Amino acid sequence: MAEIWCVASGKGGVGKTFVASGFGISLAKLRRKVLLVDFDISGANLHTVLGLKEFKKSIVDGLTSSADGCRDMIVRSTFPNLDFIPGFIVPQLGQELCTFKVDALLEQLKKLDYDVIIFDLGPGAQKANFSLMAYANRNFIVTNCEPTSVEKTYSFVEQYVAHEGNTKNLHLLANFCRSSQHQGLGKSLESVLFKKHDINVRFSAAIRFDNAVWQSTFMSTSNLQNVFALMPYSEVCHDFYKICKQLIDPSELRAVS
Ligand SMILES: Nc1ncnc2c1ncn2[C@@H]1O[C@H](COP(=O)(O)OP(=O)(O)O)[C@@H](O)[C@H]1O
Ligand SMILES: [Mg+2]
Repeated sequence: MAEIWCVASGKGGVGKTFVASGFGISLAKLRRKVLLVDFDISGANLHTVLGLKEFKKSIVDGLTSSADGCRDMIVRSTFPNLDFIPGFIVPQLGQELCTFKVDALLEQLKKLDYDVIIFDLGPGAQKANFSLMAYANRNFIVTNCEPTSVEKTYSFVEQYVAHEGNTKNLHLLANFCRSSQHQGLGKSLESVLFKKHDINVRFSAAIRFDNAVWQSTFMSTSNLQNVFALMPYSEVCHDFYKICKQLIDPSELRAVS
């Protein structure tokens, strides 16, 4: 049965889509079979990061018709081992429909032949996000290191816990890290959430800010303007590879004594 991972955040623009694609591409390189799902109900853009353009079907079909046909929504990406379900190209679906249909859709998707299914969510404490997160094996909450993002991260986690109870599957990712102070932010957040609010969130990793990300968007004349494809030896790609290795097999990176 596939593992379900969600990538969520309190604030928009903190790197959820980037993280979801980075996880997907890195896990696929580590020979895991991965399905990436664009589930940002405010509007799709994971397809652009993957360099994909036109689709016959999207997640909307899975939520509006019988979920049995979920194989029809799946598109092959240009990366080996990585498939994709396009999102809400026109954000026409109401939250209620998402929450109502999500259970049936997930049951179908989990039976497909994937190791990991990754959902790229929209920002904030929306019902549709929480209903998916409740199902997931791991929920990655992405924050950047600015006070406005940190503030929204606290509020997002508190709202999720008020909704779902204090779950053990919350992981924190600090993105856009530019200094050692930033690198330490995730641990501080983890500690404050536990000591002051009795909430368990595990700090997973710091991801550095890397100019290679925007430079890649100027490098290619094709649709694929992705750092993981164009600058795979950049520092940020190395961060993702390491994080994914650690997530799927923590024992491999243990120090040898
Ligand atoms: N670690 C990083 N280094 C450099 N640029 C980044 C990094 N993470 C994200 N970005 C860039 O920041 C912008 C916002 O990221 P995106 O994934 O679209 O955020 P969200 O999905 O949370 O709205 C994008 O242009 C993305 O390429
Ligand atoms: Mg996004």
